[in-house]
Amino acid sequence: MRIDLTGRRALVSGSSQGIGQAIATELARAGASVVVNGRDQDRTERAAEAIAREVPSAELLPVAADLASADGAEALRERAGELDILVNNLGIFGAKPVLEIEDDEWRRYFEVNVLSAVRLIRMYLPGMTERGFGRVMNIASDSAVVTPLEMVHYGVTKTALLAVTRGFAKAAAGTGVTVNSVMAGPTHTPGVEEFVGELVGEELPWDEAQRQFMREHRPYSLIQRLIEPTEIGNMVVYLSSEQASATTGGAVRVDGGYVDSILP
Ligand SMILES: NC(=O)c1ccc[n+]([C@@H]2O[C@H](COP(=O)([O-])OP(=O)(O)OC[C@H]3O[C@@H](n4cnc5c(N)ncnc54)[C@H](OP(=O)(O)O)[C@@H]3O)[C@@H](O)[C@H]2O)c1
Repeated sequence: MRIDLTGRRALVSGSSQGIGQAIATELARAGASVVVNGRDQDRTERAAEAIAREVPSAELLPVAADLASADGAEALRERAGELDILVNNLGIFGAKPVLEIEDDEWRRYFEVNVLSAVRLIRMYLPGMTERGFGRVMNIASDSAVVTPLEMVHYGVTKTALLAVTRGFAKAAAGTGVTVNSVMAGPTHTPGVEEFVGELVGEELPWDEAQRQFMREHRPYSLIQRLIEPTEIGNMVVYLSSEQASATTGGAVRVDGGYVDSILP
């Protein structure tokens, strides 16, 4: 299978670092022109430069916009124009005892992790269905199906994204547009590397620290290592392709087998 996204225009929300940046890189490598996004113009431009170093042929448009608000989404649309591929990657997470999560924080998680995706889908789906092609992907998590006690609010938003995906896939039925969730598992991002260091000790070499972290804290992982962000990018590239035309309304796992279940 050869995937060629030349001529396709993509947006990856929250792509100035981490998984989003890796997704943007892999989409660019497959030939798509990519809108790179974060809240800060400098950081967003630096991410685009890093992608261009890896993929010299990349066509990139860095657009700083805060997608937690409707105004931010509108500002992004003005700069980005129409899209063929929309990747709702933006997501925040952080540990907090569930009894201490106040209304405002529940609302903030819902705004950033769910409504940001809903708004962009509402904006871009009509154009995609009219043109008869489109790919929408929402980056969910293992936490969508196994609610983490240390961040219930986060898990709830990721569960909601699976339903958002199913609902909009139904709205796009028969149009040539697909809408899917990608369930990422524990992934090797700078934030997670720091977290591993805190749990198993900063002094251990990375490979050993990772092995110990997986053995002690993620024993259900079938790959017994963190997922590399590029591996999530590869799945997004596949789902963005013409070849993935019969996959819609579902949740595809890139979790290293972490969720101990046959179905997502
Ligand atoms: N890391 C994991 O192990 C893991 C596992 C499963 C699922 N996931 C999911 O994968 C996605 C990416 O995770 P990550 O770990 O790569 O995240 P991350 O490293 O924290 O990066 C988040 C990105 O979003 C941007 N951002 C934050 N708030 C924004 C806003 N309001 N508007 C626009 N951009 C914003 C950040 O840039 P600025 O701060 O400069 O705005 C940054 O580029 C999330 O949906 C997460 O839930 C992650």
